[in-house]
Amino acid sequence: MSKVNVVLGVFYGDEGKGKIIDYLSKSADYAVRFSGGNNAGHTIKVDGEKFAFHLLPSGILNENIKAVLGNGVVIDPKVLIEEIESLKSHGFPVNNLYISDKAHVIFPYHIVMDGILEENRGENKIGTTKRGIGPCYCDKFERCGIRIADLIASNFEELLKRNVINKNKIIEAYGHEPLEYRQILEEYREYAEKLKPYVCDTTSMLHKALKNDESILCEGAQATLLDIDFGSYPFVTSSNPTIGGVSTGCGIGSSYIGEVYGVTKAYSSRVGEGPYVTEETGEIGDLIRELGHEYGTTTKRPRRCGWLDLVALNYAIMLNGITALAINHLDTVGKLDKIKLCIAYNYNGNIITDFSSNIDFLTSCTPIYEEFEGNFGDISNCKTFDELPENAQKYINRIEELTDTPVKFIGTGAARENTIIREEKQKQLIR
Ligand code: GDP
Ligand code: IMO
Ligand code: MG
Repeated sequence: MSKVNVVLGVFYGDEGKGKIIDYLSKSADYAVRFSGGNNAGHTIKVDGEKFAFHLLPSGILNENIKAVLGNGVVIDPKVLIEEIESLKSHGFPVNNLYISDKAHVIFPYHIVMDGILEENRGENKIGTTKRGIGPCYCDKFERCGIRIADLIASNFEELLKRNVINKNKIIEAYGHEPLEYRQILEEYREYAEKLKPYVCDTTSMLHKALKNDESILCEGAQATLLDIDFGSYPFVTSSNPTIGGVSTGCGIGSSYIGEVYGVTKAYSSRVGEGPYVTEETGEIGDLIRELGHEYGTTTKRPRRCGWLDLVALNYAIMLNGITALAINHLDTVGKLDKIKLCIAYNYNGNIITDFSSNIDFLTSCTPIYEEFEGNFGDISNCKTFDELPENAQKYINRIEELTDTPVKFIGTGAARENTIIREEKQKQLIR
């Protein structure tokens, strides 16, 4: 029986998962999104062209792959159709997409509610992407959500009307204009027609694939510290981007899972509100943002930037059972004179290496750093670890040492080919 490999973000998102997924999906038969929605933005640069995926699995750029949106994903059909059209205009046939009949659908009232809830939170706002993600997952758990299967079922109008009437009561109570259900009905019936050919029972499809010894790559969106259970609640997203989300989000038991690749940058970033122990709010943060082009793929917001945090990274490794790491943007930190690596927190005078997602704890901690020499020069053409300058090797070796986890991928630039792949690290994966 073949195994399911998984790619997960370890920090607050935007670690460069797209690039690693793109590489790994070359040798996979299926690329599967299992959680989140179009709050994600995954960038892949191929032959000078930039692709940004929000809903479609990033593995779709690889020929012969079957791209799957699992039941754990929330789907805005308008965004998905736009993405499909855009990919077609780039010459991809998009005849290899499979959408779970059980995935929940984002409606305009979810997007309106996302905005209203954020406004209402005032100073305590989360800084959501305002894509309706949280309100859609709320409906899923409240059991009034509308699923992809419902879009094409005979009682769709009834379900939609009920929801729009109920949501309008809240929307009007907040002083906003009510929504017109007939307009939404018409629009979504058109979407349903377009998406119908892609809809199926993706869980049984994936299990047939496993029996046929085909390989599956599950691609995480968001990241560990944005997890609804394990992240810096309430400054999180509304799903489980951690390892458990794979099982619930596409119906694959944990015993099928093989490698779990954790993706991080050689520094860190966060977009949206919430604690961030290693954040640099001054000049150095601005410098990292400019060097790393740290502006949101989805919302274009400037990302908050800081140093790599091994306390948080070790938490993500522990929670997800990460078997190997991918470290992107080594080129970016290599442009700095000095690089800092957070190895512990100072919490009221105590040295702490165990992460806690508790907000009071995180906002009280200050980072304890080790410092490394930067100025790596141009490393974009390095194809092996040995070709990297000594200072770059020292930095990576120290991360491996303090995490006890092999660094299998090293990002030396944004393009597809700017990745060092250390095949030898594969052998050490069995723990
Ligand atoms: P994701 O959400 O985890 O897929 O990451 P994003 O695509 O939102 O953000 C990562 C950004 O870093 C994108 O602009 C990538 O093109 C870029 N990127 C990824 N790896 C590297 C790298 O090794 N070096 C540089 N300079 N850029 C990278
Ligand atoms: P990728 O897959 C970075 C953040 C938002 C906000 C919080 C809640 O590209 O790494 P939501 O709209 O999900 O309710 O917002 O989560 N967020 C992300 N930050 N990368 C992402 O995805 C994110 N998806 C959500 O900025 O702080
Ligand atoms: Mg992103």
